[in-house]
Amino acid sequence: MVLLGSTLVLGILWSNSASAAEINRRSPQAQSYMRRGACPDYKDYATVRHPPYTTGTYQLPFQRPAQECRLFTSDAVEDVISTMTANMVDPDMARLFENCFPNTLDTTVRWHVDSDKQEERQSFIVTGDINAQWLRDSTNQLSQYMVLVGKDAKLKALIEGAINTQADFILQSPYCNAFQPPKASGLAPTSNGQADTVHPTYDPDVVFECKYELDSLASFLSLGNQYHAATQSTTHITARWILALKNVLNLISEQRTSTFAADGSIQNQVYTFTRTTTRGTETLNLDGIGNPLAANTSLVRSAFRPSDDAAIMQYFIPGNAFMAVELQRTAAALTAASQSDLAAEVLALGKEIEAGVWKYGVVQHPVFGKVFAYEVDGYGSNIIMDDANLPSLLALPLLGFVDVDNEVYKNTRKMILSPQGNPYYLVGSKFSGIGGPHIGITHAWPISLLVQAMTSSDDAEIKSLLNASVNVQRTEDYTRSWFAWANSVFAQTILDIAKRKPDLIFKKTEKKA
Ligand SMILES: *[C@@H]1O[C@H](CO)[C@@H](O)[C@H](O)[C@H]1NC(C)=O
Ligand SMILES: *[C@@H]1O[C@H](CO)[C@@H](O)[C@H](O)[C@H]1NC(C)=O
Repeated sequence: MVLLGSTLVLGILWSNSASAAEINRRSPQAQSYMRRGACPDYKDYATVRHPPYTTGTYQLPFQRPAQECRLFTSDAVEDVISTMTANMVDPDMARLFENCFPNTLDTTVRWHVDSDKQEERQSFIVTGDINAQWLRDSTNQLSQYMVLVGKDAKLKALIEGAINTQADFILQSPYCNAFQPPKASGLAPTSNGQADTVHPTYDPDVVFECKYELDSLASFLSLGNQYHAATQSTTHITARWILALKNVLNLISEQRTSTFAADGSIQNQVYTFTRTTTRGTETLNLDGIGNPLAANTSLVRSAFRPSDDAAIMQYFIPGNAFMAVELQRTAAALTAASQSDLAAEVLALGKEIEAGVWKYGVVQHPVFGKVFAYEVDGYGSNIIMDDANLPSLLALPLLGFVDVDNEVYKNTRKMILSPQGNPYYLVGSKFSGIGGPHIGITHAWPISLLVQAMTSSDDAEIKSLLNASVNVQRTEDYTRSWFAWANSVFAQTILDIAKRKPDLIFKKTEKKA
């Protein structure tokens, strides 16, 4: 199982072996870390329990790195930790929050440049145990800090830097999912160790992996939209950001090309991917283009899923729903920035994709009624399942695509939260929940329980999910000791429950503001 919270760990060997020249090229902040000497690799640090332990049932450890090894600090974040944990009933839950909420800042800000000029800010946010930045993960890793940008200018600059760095990645290789440290950071690129043949080609010093996933691009838009919602500002919409947006629009247009033209001839596909592998989920069928897709559905292909597994049918419904919402939010931000022509184009595209999801992505199930399919091909075939990774069907209301009370969503939720309805609903002796083919059929993911809690208004259901999420920390059988996205989702869930259902987690007498 992905160990959610105990995780953390600070990472990064700011290695002993760095030369003086290498250190000097880095940001002042990174230089100071490096000169302090090597902090333990958080991937290892996180596998060991560190004191002090809680007085709770599970005696959970304190897994934040030592202060001098934290990569980025924020007073506003420390304030939230103190206020939240002071009033929580369960000391184990409080400890998990304390470990998880700052995890992105503590351990994953591998490079950050602050500057008086917003457009010069940069932030490289690694996923955790792999020294590369995923577009999707980094957006999710920062999302719990958005409410604090008005209180902490440093944090605001960090997020502005992340928006710029993501835009730079998309300007260089819009089809790719994970990226190397920017050259200016002086950090060395690493290899993913795979033999991939990918078109369009890319520079391996820029790209860590080039699986085309529609939700990576939606995550880029989402980071800007979250910033706009939190600040009411449109200063992130720079000339460079607009060029990146145009790359996204161009990619969407390329990825709506069906396999066959109306006369039956085969159409050229811009993106192809094959890998030398024994796993079907790591390469694409039909010599790298994926299984056939019908024309004129309004839907956009996604070669891979947010788990980085190959899609079976490339009209991936959660990714299309996510993109539809983020395009419409982007249109609102563009309007606020007086970019009305571009806003109109982006809004129309978002609405088209939204209509495509309702027309092709909703199917009649023999037991559960009308439900959202996970993937469709536009010919009428579909895949019924859900995967723990976000975006998922379970998360559709959190993405802003549909209300939790919508009938189709309610039917879908019932289906994907049952082992009879969802082949990847995995039941174990210690833990049950949605998993996915990425890790295999023996491990459910805590992320799915957290999303289930955030999409529920049932007190008993939320309580038991939170309990299970805390309880799973005890297990010895997990797959990743340092996974900042999962840690962030735990923190986001606790903040969500604090707002919607404070009585479930706080002491009754001293209610949290
Ligand atoms: C898709 O629709 C357009 C416009 O109606 C049409 O020209 C084109 O032939 C259609 N494509 C296919 C493959 O049917
Ligand atoms: C919490 O989870 C544990 C382990 O699954 C279980 O034994 C316990 O009864 C649960 N407590 C509550 C309040 O649900």
